[in-house]
Amino acid sequence: MSSEINRIAVLTSGGDAPGMNAAIRAVVRTASHFDLHVYGVFEGYKGLIEGNFKRLESRDVANTILRGGTILKTARCEEFKTEEGRKKAYDSLMAYDIDGVIVIGGNGTYTGAKYFTEEYDIPFIGLPGTIDNDIYGTDFTIGFDTSINTAVEAIDKIRDTASSHNRLFFIEVMGRHAGFIALETGIASGAAATFLPETDWGIDELLKMLRNAAIRKKLFNIVVVAEGNKNGDAHTLAKLVHENLTNYETRVTTIGHLQRGGSPSAADRVLASRLGFEAVNALIDGIENKALGLVHNKLNRESFNNAITKKKSLDNRMVEILNILAM
Ligand code: F6P
Repeated sequence: MSSEINRIAVLTSGGDAPGMNAAIRAVVRTASHFDLHVYGVFEGYKGLIEGNFKRLESRDVANTILRGGTILKTARCEEFKTEEGRKKAYDSLMAYDIDGVIVIGGNGTYTGAKYFTEEYDIPFIGLPGTIDNDIYGTDFTIGFDTSINTAVEAIDKIRDTASSHNRLFFIEVMGRHAGFIALETGIASGAAATFLPETDWGIDELLKMLRNAAIRKKLFNIVVVAEGNKNGDAHTLAKLVHENLTNYETRVTTIGHLQRGGSPSAADRVLASRLGFEAVNALIDGIENKALGLVHNKLNRESFNNAITKKKSLDNRMVEILNILAM
């Protein structure tokens, strides 16, 4: 074990994701196993700048593995994007004698980590905590599995009322720039169509599909809409359909932040526990400035630069499955 790591700081930043608490717990308990001290930083980089630290011990994370959200709270911090902000953060870390920092978050979190570690000599390790699953270098991000389960559960319920009234539902799911949530939600909920940011499938194709369905007297359907798709939001799409195909009665549901909450799935708890454990071990082993993930179920380490600049693409085969199974 390297003698250099004695005190670790851990924070969650950006949009919260179910499983962040399981990751914090794994960090605290692994560190405690190796007799290291852990400081929780509240509200992400904002707390780093303001010096909002609290010592965390094993008992502090009891009963947290099942809780959604983040016990450390989170924020999107503009000040950390400035050199002055990062200098204040460095001063806070120095004041607490921190030797290594574990950050849990998405793209913005990793961008902050990249800039900070280019300027200061304190190692950072990143864990992918976002429901969007849009981080390069990991097959899954912490929170993604729970979020698609939440969306599918909601759509199953909507399907009951959709079919009872013969209505066409447009259901908007999160994922600003990436269609991972929509893709897997579309497959798992048996959606008739799914709008993804990454594909050109658009309104003309939808109208054609609905005309064919109407001939077969199928007027109820579920259409999943990724918030970042190129054709407009769920309300815009519903209006367009209503104007063109008056026999369809449309309704819209935006699942929105519902997908960010709730008790993490077993898969997210296991992923978070594995990565939290590996993050502490990485610092102990002298590994610096890496974003951790699992690729083909094996630990993977990427530079922060790769993690934020390389694009994680949708699996084309999955898109084919989505389209072929949607009838
Ligand atoms: O990045 C996670 C995410 O939930 C996106 O899917 C969504 O577009 C965004 O955050 C919403 O951000 P906020 O909670 O700040 O409105």
